[in-house]
Amino acid sequence: MSTQIIRPARSLQGSLTVPGDKSISHRYAMLAGLAEGTTRLANFSTGADPHSSLACMESLGARVLRNPDGTIEITGVAGSFRQPAAPLDCGNSGSTMRMLSGLIASHPHTFTLIGDPSLTLRPMDRIRNPLIQMGAKIDLTDGHAPITIHGTPLRAIDFTAPIPSAQVKTAVLFAGLQADGVTSLTESILTRDHTEHALLAFGATFTRTFAHGLNQPATLSIPGGQRLKAIDATVPGDISSAAFFLCAALLFPDSNLVLDSLGMNPTRAALLDVIAALGGRIKILTVDERHGELIGTIQVNRAPAAPSTTPFLISGPLTAQLIDELPVLAAIAPFTSCGIIIRDAQELRVKESDRIALVAKNLRAMGARFTENPDGLEIPGNQTLHGASIDSGTDHRIAMAFAIAALRATGNTEILGAEAAAISFPEFFTSLDALALR
Ligand code: S3P
Repeated sequence: MSTQIIRPARSLQGSLTVPGDKSISHRYAMLAGLAEGTTRLANFSTGADPHSSLACMESLGARVLRNPDGTIEITGVAGSFRQPAAPLDCGNSGSTMRMLSGLIASHPHTFTLIGDPSLTLRPMDRIRNPLIQMGAKIDLTDGHAPITIHGTPLRAIDFTAPIPSAQVKTAVLFAGLQADGVTSLTESILTRDHTEHALLAFGATFTRTFAHGLNQPATLSIPGGQRLKAIDATVPGDISSAAFFLCAALLFPDSNLVLDSLGMNPTRAALLDVIAALGGRIKILTVDERHGELIGTIQVNRAPAAPSTTPFLISGPLTAQLIDELPVLAAIAPFTSCGIIIRDAQELRVKESDRIALVAKNLRAMGARFTENPDGLEIPGNQTLHGASIDSGTDHRIAMAFAIAALRATGNTEILGAEAAAISFPEFFTSLDALALR
């Protein structure tokens, strides 16, 4: 286990390109593996998780070239995965395990999916339930991995998502793409829509209806029996990785940060509004679109005007849209003028760790006042925190969130298990050192 010492900073200055988006990298890797032809991907995530997806695609018969310039070439299996010689190792990645289950369930082989100790604890019945309705044969171990899938032809279903989860949506759409008939999926809270954009990019078709607009029930209908074609693409920078630096910029009056090649998909960009509400000033300098994904350059600093003193409430659909950013927002909440209340976030308890409990443990270690609830946290603002020993719980987002809080603490902070950052953002501590003025 490695430890990083974080010293307090007085500002955050400079420009940064964050690694390619983790969610999009997973989807491109999996669809490229299934497609016909060679997909070329630039700015693929450097995080360990999407590389677990790539390795699984290799085990399933795709050819993967990792070029010295960082580009990735994936030659797909043209619709027919092969029997893997060994279990598919999903590492720490819930996205790999859940989405891959939908992708492979109709292929005529037996698959075993395994993961590390954290992934082995995470609930998998959420993908098993819709997939068995489609006729899939899936065995879990007590609701968890290891998962065994006995591949069999699937039939279309009409499925209403019981929890907002893009991973579950993706598992159903990937299965539906290869099933017999038209699969419909209704979600009442719109989750990240990278799968939809990626499917269109790889040549798939589906229809989508909105009942009353964004954040109202929407139904996707995808016909089965579709074939995919390889693409050339650049993965936009990961806004969930950028979140750490956007939050850090809020902590100092004279911060000035420019982020380029940043993914700004509207289903992921709620954070930008939250940063603005908490006193940040965000300028969009450029914006472009690639394969349906918005990508741009933004500048962030802190607005001179005093922001509101009413606690900022994150609940309902906003909680779902900010799910990966909640740990860092909670970690900087004591330094905001208004404080933050997080509700409806029980899903955080079944992420790579129980993120509510671990945020609470680490805030407590730094001397913060707050209330922990079953579904969230209430954290008053205007607090002074002291440096402490932080337990990452081997969770990448906890390690990085508290490295950001440490910038405004008095005294040094040590992050135990700092190597976890490499799951999504191996360059995090180097970038932080380069941007933090001491
Ligand atoms: C992801 C969806 C979210 C998110 C995870 C990545 C995805 O999980 O927390 O980091 O790429 O679809 P859920 O689907 O469990 O909400």
